[in-house]
Amino acid sequence: MKKLFHLSALITLFSFIANAQVYNLPNLPFGLADYEPFVDAQTMEIHHDKHHAAYVNNLNKAISGTAMEKISMNDLLMYASFRSATVRNNAGGHYNHSLFWDILAPKEKQGPISSELQKAIDSKFTSIDSLIATINKAASTRFGSGWAWLVVTPQGELAVYSTPNQDNPIMDISAERGIPILGIDVWEHAYYLKYQNKRADYLSGIWNLINWGAVSDKYAAALTDPLLKELEKDNWLAIKDFHKVMAQTFHPAEEKNFAPLRTRSGELYAKAILLKNSTPPTSANNERVQEALTRLEKQCLDIHQLVQKPSKDEEKKNTQLFEMITKAHDIFHEVEGLCHD
Ligand SMILES: [Fe+2]
Repeated sequence: MKKLFHLSALITLFSFIANAQVYNLPNLPFGLADYEPFVDAQTMEIHHDKHHAAYVNNLNKAISGTAMEKISMNDLLMYASFRSATVRNNAGGHYNHSLFWDILAPKEKQGPISSELQKAIDSKFTSIDSLIATINKAASTRFGSGWAWLVVTPQGELAVYSTPNQDNPIMDISAERGIPILGIDVWEHAYYLKYQNKRADYLSGIWNLINWGAVSDKYAAALTDPLLKELEKDNWLAIKDFHKVMAQTFHPAEEKNFAPLRTRSGELYAKAILLKNSTPPTSANNERVQEALTRLEKQCLDIHQLVQKPSKDEEKKNTQLFEMITKAHDIFHEVEGLCHD
């Protein structure tokens, strides 16, 4: 019996280890000196073998033994606001640098730009040169360390953004969201040995290494990536705003604390109006969602009116309020459910 117990404990342990996510440092696709003269071999070595390796090791350490071992990199990034600074910085560091190595190549190893990406760039930025100027501007005006990005937005369009530190536009802390297809690292560790403080010189050098063939592959992949739809839903800020007030009023009410609901019913109603007037994600912008939002707004109005109404029986009023906020909460989850259909 004891042996059996040990065996089952071992199996559980092995299956946990087998399912656990461990991130690995990817190899550089080319030799350290192959990026010269635009980026010197020593910078490449330190950047990849030390900086990127540290992000990978620190990320593995931070998630080891936690529920985060079981979730994808996209989820780690997407809900970065819920993660510790260590997870946010090191998950971002690993993702961002992996992308960076993917899109850098010596001239003779670079692939041509696809006609689809060329067309998208021409229509949004008029030419590659003006796209490069836009990215360089984002990169040179990024204060301190960070990245400049070319992303595919949730609407499937190209856009140029920049983020501080190791953040990126997949993260919910980024005001502008999208899937990055090209990133320029503007941390000093990317250029200091060769260019010292001259970020502009590094920027004009790095474009010689951008492999438009690889960027084109990332563009095609991003357009069909289910992550795009997830980003669009996650970026419906009006529903996040509403949810915050709903959670801060409904959950105390569940524990018979009606003070937050009674003091914030006007705010809840205002957020419901803003939500009704906001634009839902394209995939969820349909009659059923609009109809549910109308009911939600009405329900919040009813709650607010009841709160304001004088009452001789506060107990009874609380019972009524609880029924009403529970119904509003149900409608809110109905909207959320419709978004995930
Ligand atoms: Fe870097």
